Amino acid sequence: MVDEKLIDTAWCELYKSVIDYKGQPVGTVAARDPGNDILNYDHCFVRDFAVSALAFLMRGDSEIVRNFLTIMVELQGKVKYMNCLMVGKGLMPGSFKVVKTDGIAQLEADFGEKSIARVSPVDSGLWWLIVLRAYVRATGDTTLIKQPEFQQAIKLILELFLEQNFDMRPTLLVTDGAYMIDRRMGVYGYPFDIQSLLFAALSAARELLTTDDYYHRSITERLTHLSDHLQQYYWLDFARLNTIYRYKVEGYGNQVINAFNIQPSTIKSALIDWLPAEGGYFIGNVSPGRMDFRYFAQGNLLAIISSLATQDQSHKIMTLIEQRWHDLIGQMPVKLCFPALEGHDWEIVTGADPKNSAWSYHNGGNWPFLIWLLAAAAQKSGHPALAIRALESAASRLESECWPEYFDGHYGQLVGKEARRFQTWSVAGFLAAYQLLEQPRHLDLFEF
Ligand code: GLC
Repeated sequence: MVDEKLIDTAWCELYKSVIDYKGQPVGTVAARDPGNDILNYDHCFVRDFAVSALAFLMRGDSEIVRNFLTIMVELQGKVKYMNCLMVGKGLMPGSFKVVKTDGIAQLEADFGEKSIARVSPVDSGLWWLIVLRAYVRATGDTTLIKQPEFQQAIKLILELFLEQNFDMRPTLLVTDGAYMIDRRMGVYGYPFDIQSLLFAALSAARELLTTDDYYHRSITERLTHLSDHLQQYYWLDFARLNTIYRYKVEGYGNQVINAFNIQPSTIKSALIDWLPAEGGYFIGNVSPGRMDFRYFAQGNLLAIISSLATQDQSHKIMTLIEQRWHDLIGQMPVKLCFPALEGHDWEIVTGADPKNSAWSYHNGGNWPFLIWLLAAAAQKSGHPALAIRALESAASRLESECWPEYFDGHYGQLVGKEARRFQTWSVAGFLAAYQLLEQPRHLDLFEF
């Protein structure tokens, strides 16, 4: 499938990114690019490390993952304050780094208070749950989760995510840039990427709790409501598009079909031409008066893996990818979202962000780290050939271009304008995908 030498080089790069704390490996830095400003790329980002963790676990190297999981428990907010300037109870940081004060190594976490644009790390606790569950599956070691601190950490996350809020909906209300897309991109409200991640993380948490109590029951209930809601309002195939196209508006009461008062005129004609009759996907966002019809890869691929998508839907998502290969995979897998925001939309929605100009970075750029999700989804839905094709097409270019963070262009032809080289999750995503395709049993780490 891929030259062994290239795989060895990739492992070498991944191990070079390991962070040491008190003589122990605890994480990986985001990137090691000498040619670019460091900013916070010397941090260990939780979502980035999740990819490294999976690659390490598949290789049988679980120590670093165990250390990382333990550190996150230490850094998690533990106390409930009525003070918005304190770290919230249950919250896990977006990233951390090791700093030396008077020669003594210490962990310094960022909960969004220092990050560019001060974005909230909504996804960290969710990824932590997924990594913890993968660790248990890979090693069979349940001593960690049986520790009271770990059980408490899981419950604190559940309290943070499941507690009642302003609206009576199973989806999670988040601000813009609260996860992998950590810039303004119109992904505020109820972005599917986060809802899909929440579904996977809750499924993981249900297995990790050692007692069958109130928390366990609350998860089961929420999973049912969440999946019903996402199935009803986010799934889009041609039949459903036609229903929305014929929606009546201004309905009142609980029998209304167009519950969110969506204006059918917001369906762009380009979408009608683009959506193949045999394909389908979960759309990007649904909130009052708004359906964001953009396709986001992370949420859709994760939905296949976590079984949020039914078998039929999984097949339709993979069919969409196959039939729209140039748009959704292109020359470098995998397109983050499609289509890009252009012109006036880009100006208004991103705040005229030049880093997110059309077909660049988060706004329709191609991100190699996503290959592991493609590999897992393809494997699970019985389409491994698609992922092998993607991996093979990416391999040599990734190495010769020194593992860029992302690629630009409608088809991902160009190394991204501001892409870091030696981006750790580009390496880790590639290694995780490779191992998964070589040994499909690894799917067991994160499928439900
Ligand atoms: C960028 C990405 C974010 C990632 C971080 C570190 O900020 O948008 O998703 O976690 O870089 O790689």
